Amino acid sequence: MNRGSPMSARNFARRRAAVMAVVGRARFRPVAERVEAYAPANIALCKYWGKRDAALNLPTNGSVSVSLATHGTITEVRPASGDEFCLNGAPLAPDSPAGLRLKEYLDLFRSAECPAFAVKTENTIPTAAGLASSASAYAALARALDALFGWNLSPRRLSILARLGSGSAARSAADGFVEWRRGQRADGMDSFAVRWPVEWPKLRIGLMLVTSEPKAVGSREGMRHTVETSPLYAAWPAAAERDLRTLRAAARVRDFTRLGEIAEANAMAMHATMIAARPALRYWRPATLAVLDRVAELRAAGVEVYATLDAGPNVKLLFQAADEASVRFAFPELLVVNPFGTYKIPSLTSF
Ligand code: PMV
Repeated sequence: MNRGSPMSARNFARRRAAVMAVVGRARFRPVAERVEAYAPANIALCKYWGKRDAALNLPTNGSVSVSLATHGTITEVRPASGDEFCLNGAPLAPDSPAGLRLKEYLDLFRSAECPAFAVKTENTIPTAAGLASSASAYAALARALDALFGWNLSPRRLSILARLGSGSAARSAADGFVEWRRGQRADGMDSFAVRWPVEWPKLRIGLMLVTSEPKAVGSREGMRHTVETSPLYAAWPAAAERDLRTLRAAARVRDFTRLGEIAEANAMAMHATMIAARPALRYWRPATLAVLDRVAELRAAGVEVYATLDAGPNVKLLFQAADEASVRFAFPELLVVNPFGTYKIPSLTSF
């Protein structure tokens, strides 16, 4: 599978131009010695799958997710003379894949006044759960850089900065239901996240660990491989846009059945495009299927629960508070999240 080439000078220039368009005339001069920021992870109900521009992470289709409240990433940034990265209490090698990606992102923000950064990151999702994501990491980092340089950017602008680190990070710029608009512009200035004006206190998301083994193919690479080789991909963009419209209507009237059915169907359709890729990209493990079977059994027994999956074997469940006890009984290890509850923003000292 093609791993992609290092960033070309042209793509770097386009990414840097996107940052400049976001921050305007603002300076890259630190206004603090240390800043800390938090962003939640998110679970997509209509998935981002395919890019119309890989350098700017512009999506082929719009998507929508639900943010995971206290489950996300806390990031501390300090100006430094050389880069230093620390992830979950251990040094992150600058030449590891995650280190290189972080360095490449920080390259967009360096200046004579701040040539390098010390970045310390903690995921509040248990790392062993295999559910920690680049979405919360890049959204938290974008917020931290905003604080470091004293820019005070709007959530919309912050979501554009986060998107340059990881597409799905655009949606971690807000809580609740967050739509990431596809946009039409080549510079991506109309491709940002917008929070839906919907509160749904009874909605629950369950995170079901199937395996904590690191996945063999990351979502970036899996997406590219699927778009390039899957004969089923052609049907995806229009189907996803339709699902997004239906989800918007379902959320507006809090129609849980419609929301759950569409979210589950959307995830299955995304995996169908992957399975048809050549060679096939199959993230499901036997335990993934066992969870999906159990979900179907619960539904047949009258417990309304739906499943969604991202580029990995772990399953995320959607249900409502009234069914929480039954769902927990069926999945005793489930981590249950209340996305619309009020919460205290996690910090490094409280974590
Ligand atoms: O942000 P990325 O490049 O890791 O892509 C994430 C893609 C999916 O998680 C599979 C779907 C989504 O919309 O989150």
